[in-house]
Amino acid sequence: MDAEFYKSADVFFREQSGTALTYDDVTLATLYSEVLPKDTNLETTIAENLHLRIPVISADMDTVTESRMAISMALNGGLGLIHYNMTERQQLSELTRVKYHVHGLIQDPIKVTPEKLIGDVLELIEEKSYSFNTFPVVDGDGKLMGLLPGHVVKPRYSSRKVSEAMTPRACLLTINKKELGADPITRADRFFNENIGIHKLLVVDDEDRLRGLFTLSDIERITQEKSAQLKPARDQQFRLVCGAAVSASRTSGGDLDRDRIIAHVGALVERGVDVVAVSTAHGFSKGVGESVRMIRDAFPNLPIIAGNVTSGAGVEFLADCGADVVKVGQGPGSICTTRVVAGVGIPQLTALNVCSRAAKAKGVRIIADGGIAKSGDIIKALTLADAVICGGLLAGCPEAPGEILEIGGKFFKQYRGMGSLAAMKAGSAARYGHSAKDTTRKIAAEGVEALKEVSASLATVMSQLVGGVQSGMGYLGAANLQELRSKARFIRVTPSGQREASPHDIIEVKTGTSKPEA
Ligand code: XMP
Repeated sequence: MDAEFYKSADVFFREQSGTALTYDDVTLATLYSEVLPKDTNLETTIAENLHLRIPVISADMDTVTESRMAISMALNGGLGLIHYNMTERQQLSELTRVKYHVHGLIQDPIKVTPEKLIGDVLELIEEKSYSFNTFPVVDGDGKLMGLLPGHVVKPRYSSRKVSEAMTPRACLLTINKKELGADPITRADRFFNENIGIHKLLVVDDEDRLRGLFTLSDIERITQEKSAQLKPARDQQFRLVCGAAVSASRTSGGDLDRDRIIAHVGALVERGVDVVAVSTAHGFSKGVGESVRMIRDAFPNLPIIAGNVTSGAGVEFLADCGADVVKVGQGPGSICTTRVVAGVGIPQLTALNVCSRAAKAKGVRIIADGGIAKSGDIIKALTLADAVICGGLLAGCPEAPGEILEIGGKFFKQYRGMGSLAAMKAGSAARYGHSAKDTTRKIAAEGVEALKEVSASLATVMSQLVGGVQSGMGYLGAANLQELRSKARFIRVTPSGQREASPHDIIEVKTGTSKPEA
């Protein structure tokens, strides 16, 4: 009886073949379950050597993913794709920050030099609003000279030199970076247990140059977090995973700039990139195909994401060119205007269904890119795709690039489409098939510039989203994503059904917001 109404994806989407549907147009039927949400497994494989603990990826957009976001995404079990609206050198350094990030180790602590006065240090604290007052002391070559403890950083000692007030090098306990091993947190935790009363552990190299700092409070926080549900996504060398978007750059003659693309991807690979994304608005095109093929030939084992497409033929094309994963989505994004401007694009669930059929036949994976506004959309997307890409949902997090703006007592961060004029001027014109020079002439933007209200930290946002996905899996009796895909049963909802799905006929009470984290 149920089967007459609640249909599998294959049957449901075929029956709806004349209509393009998106997330809110359908709902999932609940099923008999022996699965508790907390016991569900959200692991996903993006490519042969790329496994994520949660199927969520942060968008390669200049207001979403740089190293801070990518570090946080990987720490929470997902993946960040570093955008390419920056120089190639900058992108390499953003990637390096992620790959060499040691959780809990402050890699580049604020230091002072011995000849400075305590008064200078007080000014520095005031000027930069530092919330700490203990500083490592180094000489001009970065060699460790001592530690300036907080209890001497007082106006009373303003005219005294740092060298007079610091604990000298000979009295400091330090650790060589090489001794940190594969689990630096446990090593630092042991150090603090063994050395009662010491709250800072300075890390040095063989030349006694300062290489980082652990603080007891950070280690305590991280050790508590270890019991948290979301575990980091790491590569085989225990480094955080990270991806980077690459541009299909062209020479002044208009041809693909093969040497430049290959040299840049080679440098990314050397620094440990886990996946590159050839990210464009129209992936079913000659230039994107050639770029993917060129990268595949030069780097046979490198996972490649390519897109975006919304048709089975597009998936087949990119798979034949060598992509392992295809991004699906044209125009669903919260800042996208492609459908309005160009009149093209397919609502996301139908696009995913069509693409998933082609992907299955070709043995590649697909990612649902854009239009995810809530955890319910993620679970619907995961009935057809292997992962989702989120932009707008994460752009308000403190980990996203950009300053916090205060407007009328509320706090916001900038979020803009990579096809907005401002973003294209900053480098993403090629993604929309334009040359960077064109951005000074009149070209049609396919995205808008916007603001997002500042949200909680990425860890909090992610645990809410993941919690929602796990609830959904519990309702479907799905212990993992494979079971979710096979068990999901769909039915269409009407506009009144959509209204019924959200809070209604009440006055919603919102909890107050305090000043957000920077
Ligand atoms: P959300 O809905 O998560 O979407 O904010 C993020 C995705 O939107 C795509 N994107 C664009 N699409 N014009 C477009 O048509 C744009 O300017 C634009 N910028 C980003 C992209 O796929 C991203 O992951």
